Amino acid sequence: MTKLTLRELEVRGQRVLVRVDFNVPTEERDGQIVITDDTRIRESLPTINYLREEGAKAILMAHFGRPKGKPVGKYSLRPVADYLHTLLDRPVAFSHDTIGNIPEEIIAHMNEGDVTLLENVRFHPGEEANDPVFAESLAGLGDLYVNDAFGAAHRAHASTAGVPRFVKQAAMGFLMEKEIQYLSHELATPAKPFLVILGGSKVSDKIGVIKALMEKADTILIGGAMANTFWKAQGVPIGSSRVEADKLDLAREILDLAKKKKVRFLLPVDAVETQKVEPGSPGRNTSRVSLAHGITDGWQAVDIGHATISLYEDEIARAKTILWNGPVGVFEIPAFATGTIAIAEALARSKATTIIGGGDSVTAVKQAGLADKMTFISTGGGASLELLEGKELPGIAALSDRL
Ligand code: 3PG
Repeated sequence: MTKLTLRELEVRGQRVLVRVDFNVPTEERDGQIVITDDTRIRESLPTINYLREEGAKAILMAHFGRPKGKPVGKYSLRPVADYLHTLLDRPVAFSHDTIGNIPEEIIAHMNEGDVTLLENVRFHPGEEANDPVFAESLAGLGDLYVNDAFGAAHRAHASTAGVPRFVKQAAMGFLMEKEIQYLSHELATPAKPFLVILGGSKVSDKIGVIKALMEKADTILIGGAMANTFWKAQGVPIGSSRVEADKLDLAREILDLAKKKKVRFLLPVDAVETQKVEPGSPGRNTSRVSLAHGITDGWQAVDIGHATISLYEDEIARAKTILWNGPVGVFEIPAFATGTIAIAEALARSKATTIIGGGDSVTAVKQAGLADKMTFISTGGGASLELLEGKELPGIAALSDRL
């Protein structure tokens, strides 16, 4: 790792600005904002607790939702400050403003080990614009900077890419280090066979990842609506399934690339099809798909079928490293979640290093109650995909180099 890490900073007595990703799913219940998945908050606790134990003053910066540069009540981080208070079992000061007198006053009264959370940095137009004046004002609130917001590291915003330019030292937090360890280092030289499972609806969303992983994977398994585009590109009938009709050439290009790179690129061999993608709509398993038989006219593929499940289970059982990104069916509808749950269960049974690459596959693993059976689950969405593509993330690039 070439970037400075939290352990290398002298934090005692210092005001440490910590960028965290507290962009968590919430729901309004009886007029109260309720956090429905606190993973990102919990995953930032090792960094926050380390700073407290080491006698630093931790000033947390985060975004929440997309309020577009102005204060919007429902995107306030206040409920997250209260939640963090409960998790840490000690008060967390909350600053209603991100820069200026209010945070300055609060920070001036902080003691070693104290924690303050600033209001949503996206309430300020300078955040997403990566305005240097805003970044410098934020930087002025602290002495050192730590980025633990892996989920936002692909954004070149003031609190991720701007602030590091105005502080003495900018280091990675523990979560950031862990994400890079699994999504980048571990996959650079994976134990073989290396199996990649890719689902989701669009080939175009995953093209960068597919091409990058084609260099390392032994086998790639495809699921989700993305499979329809590959099927159609090969002439398999897909009924009225969801498809990216303008990406058929791209799909053919990927299939050719797989042949050239000698990567086994497997498409589903059957599917669950339905007439309406809605709860309660009956599904049925197709026979094996071929050029002559595919999805029935007027029906849509919504999950991988039984034969595909057992084929994919065998692949999973043989692999030593497995990366999974994207559900293989419409898993939000229980009747069409069988394939996705079967994949999660097969991963849970496997002895391989299992890495869940962010997004909806993480939700699926959690819904199946199997999160603790995976080697690593990323907290990123877009950031995980970009790192897997081998892109440089602005929030990491901006950190201090290790001398
Ligand atoms: C995420 O939820 O993926 C991150 O917090 C980034 O949020 P954004 O897509 O609104 O920038």
